[in-house]
Amino acid sequence: MGSEEITTSAESRGHLKQLVAIGLIASLIGIALGLAIDWFPTQASTQAEQVDTLWDVLVIFSVPVFVLVITIVLYCVWRYRMKPGEELKDGPPIHGNTRLEIIWTAIPAIILVALCSYAYVTLVDIEEADASALNVTVVGEQFTWTFYYQSDGRRIASPQLYVPRGRQVYFTVQSQDVIHDFWVPAFRMKIDAVPGVDTHLRVTPKTNGDYPVVCAELCGLGHSVMRQTAHVVDPSEFDKWLEDRASGATGGGETDEAGGNAGAPDGKAVFAAAACGSCHALQDAGTTGGTGPDLDEVLAGKDAPYIEKGIVDPGAEISPGFSEGLMPENFDETLQPAELDALVKYLDEVSG
Ligand code: CUA
Repeated sequence: MGSEEITTSAESRGHLKQLVAIGLIASLIGIALGLAIDWFPTQASTQAEQVDTLWDVLVIFSVPVFVLVITIVLYCVWRYRMKPGEELKDGPPIHGNTRLEIIWTAIPAIILVALCSYAYVTLVDIEEADASALNVTVVGEQFTWTFYYQSDGRRIASPQLYVPRGRQVYFTVQSQDVIHDFWVPAFRMKIDAVPGVDTHLRVTPKTNGDYPVVCAELCGLGHSVMRQTAHVVDPSEFDKWLEDRASGATGGGETDEAGGNAGAPDGKAVFAAAACGSCHALQDAGTTGGTGPDLDEVLAGKDAPYIEKGIVDPGAEISPGFSEGLMPENFDETLQPAELDALVKYLDEVSG
C-alpha cells in the first residue's frame, strides 16, 4: 500500500506540472489571440479607446480563468474516467477541503470586484459631461432614424447624422413607436430608444469618416434595414453643413466629396441619404429592400404629383400587401423642398 501511494503522489506531481505547463501556454496563446484579433471597427470616438482598453483587460483576465476551468475539467475526465471493472466503485467519502474552498471563492471575488470597479470608473469617465456639448435629438421609428439640431432657435431635421470632430455630442434619444436602440458601433456607445422616455448618450467623435448607424433592438420587419450613416467631419465643415441645412441649400445631407454641395441636390443622392433603399427596391439605385413596395413596380407610369404624395403622405394610398404606418410620415420635414423635388424628379425618371 505504502509504496503504491508514494508512486501515485509522485505521478500526480508530474501530472500537475504538465497541467500547469499546458495551462500557461494555452493562456498565453489565448491572450495573444484575444489581443491580436481586430474585434471592432475604427475607433471613431474618444470613448471607443477606453471601451476597447476595457475589453483588452477583460480578455487578459478571462482567458486564464477559461483555460484553468477547461484544463481541470478535461484532465479529470481523462484521469478519473471509469475503467472496465470499476462500474460499481464509488469515490472516497470526503467532507471537502475548507482551505481550497476559501481560496477558490476569494480569488474570483477579488478579481470580480476589481474588474467591476475598473468598469465603473471607465463608465463614469466616458459619460463625463462637457459644458460645450452639441445637442442632437435622435428619434427612432419603424424603420428610420431622424436627427434634430438646433440652429438659431430653429429645429433642423436631417435623415443623416453629422457631428463635428473633437466636440462632445449629447444625444437625447426618443422613439415614436416601439423600442429601438441607437447604436454607432464605431463610437462603441449604444442606448435604447424607448417610447415616452428620453434616454441620453455622450460621444466625442475623434476620427473623420462615415460610419453606420444601426438599430440594435428587434423592432419589426424592417429592423435589419434601420441603418443610416454617421458623418464625422471637421468642425468648420459641420458648421457649414448646419448653416446650409438651416437655409435649405444642401443636397441630400450627403456632402459630395468633389466640390461642396452647391447647386441643386442630386435625386439619387437624396434617395441614398434618406435611406429609402433600406425599405424599397429600386433598380437604378441598386437597392433590394423588401419592407416597402418595389418602386420600379408601383411607380411605373405614375406622374410626379403622385410620387410626391406617396413620399410626404404615405398613408393616403397603401399598396396591396403592405400595412399602413410602415413608412415614416415625416419626409416633408426631414427633406427640404429642393431635396424633395430632386427625389421626385429622380424617381419619376428612373421608374419609367
Ligand atoms: Cu429599430 Cu430595430
